[in-house]
Amino acid sequence: MKAVICKAYGDYHDLVLEEVPDPVPGPGEVVIDVKAAALNFPDVLLVQGLYQMKPDLPFTPGAECAGIISAVGEGVQNFKIGDAVIAYTRYGAFAQKVLAPEAALVLLPRDMPFDAGASLTTTYATSYYALKQRARLQSGETLVVLGAAGGVGLAAVELGKAMGARVIAAASTDEKLALAREHGADDGINYEREDLKAAIKAATGGQGADVIYDPVGGRYSEPAFRAIGWNGRHLVIGFAAGEIPKIPLNLPLLKTASIVGVFWGAWAMREPKAYARNMAEILDFYKTGKIRVAVTARFSLEDFLRGFDALAKRQATGKLVLCPA
Ligand SMILES: NC(=O)c1ccc[n+]([C@@H]2O[C@H](COP(=O)([O-])OP(=O)(O)OC[C@H]3O[C@@H](n4cnc5c(N)ncnc54)[C@H](OP(=O)(O)O)[C@@H]3O)[C@@H](O)[C@H]2O)c1
Repeated sequence: MKAVICKAYGDYHDLVLEEVPDPVPGPGEVVIDVKAAALNFPDVLLVQGLYQMKPDLPFTPGAECAGIISAVGEGVQNFKIGDAVIAYTRYGAFAQKVLAPEAALVLLPRDMPFDAGASLTTTYATSYYALKQRARLQSGETLVVLGAAGGVGLAAVELGKAMGARVIAAASTDEKLALAREHGADDGINYEREDLKAAIKAATGGQGADVIYDPVGGRYSEPAFRAIGWNGRHLVIGFAAGEIPKIPLNLPLLKTASIVGVFWGAWAMREPKAYARNMAEILDFYKTGKIRVAVTARFSLEDFLRGFDALAKRQATGKLVLCPA
C-alpha cells in the first residue's frame, strides 16, 4: 500500500509518499481501507516534533479517517469485515490502509459521506468536550470563537449554536467570517481590522463574553480575555498563531473568571464512556441537521503537501481531507 512517511522530525516538506507492506491486525485490532482522512493543524505540529506526542520514527501522520474494515484481528467483538467506520487513530491515517484498535471505532452512519465521517472526531469531539464538559456552556450564553473558520473553530461555532448559545465569530478575514456566518454565527469580528477587546465588549452590550473558545493563542488571547464577562470561562484549545501567551493572573481575579485547559485526546483515553456518549450526541446533531461538516477541499494522497501547506500558511478553512484511491 501507499503511505505518507515521516522519516525525521522537522519540515513537513520532507514527508514522502512510499510503498510499504500492508498492515496486519493484532488482537483487538482491525485494518481499515481508508476512504477519507482529515487533516488537522496538530498533524503539522506532530511532523515538526512540536506536538505533545512523539511517535517512533518512521511513522505515518493522520489522526482520523473513515473507511471500510478489510481485516479483523483475534478477539474483535463489535465490528466485522465490510463495516463502514469512523476511526480516531492519532497517527497512521494518511495511507491506503490503517490499523486501529476496536476501541477507536464508531460505525459510520448510513448516508454520511466518508469525508464528513473522517472529519468528526478531532474537531467536533474537541469542541464539544470543550463547550460541554469544560465550559458547561448554557443556552442563552454568549460564546466568542477565535479562529472561527478553522477546523476546531467552525465546529465550535456550529456546536455552540446547537447548544443554544449566541455565537460571535472572530477571524482574520471577511471571507472567513462569512463562512462562520454560513455555519450559524450570529455576529462577526475581524480581529485584523478591529480592536478585539473593544469589539467583544461592543457586541455583548458591555457585559463581556460568557465563554471564549481560543485555538489561536499569540497576541489574540489577552485582549479576548480582557473582554470576558463575570464568571466567564476562557477555553485554552491551542496556539495556531505560534506563541503561547502569558496572561496576568489579576485578570481572572477581577472578573471571577476561569482559564480552562482542554486536552481532548487525553480525556478521551481516560474517560472512554463519556467520549462515546459525546460522539453519539455529535452524530445525533449531524443526523438532525444541527451541524454540517464543512469539507472545503479534497486532495489525493499524492497531493498531501497541498493540505499541509494550507494549514501551515493560515489558508485552510473548515476541513481538508485526503482521499486515497
Ligand atoms: N486541545 C485540544 O484537545 C486540541 C484538539 C485539536 C486541535 N487543537 C489545536 O487547535 C488549534 C487549531 O487546530 P485546527 O486543526 O482547527 O487548525 P486550523 O484549521 O488551521 O485553524 C487554526 C486557525 O488559527 C488561526 N491562526 C492564527 N495564526 C495562525 C497561523 N500563524 N497559522 C495558522 N493558523 C493561524 C487561523 O484563523 P484566522 O486566520 O482567522 O486567525 C486558523 O483558521 C491547533 O493549535 C491545534 O493544535 C487542540
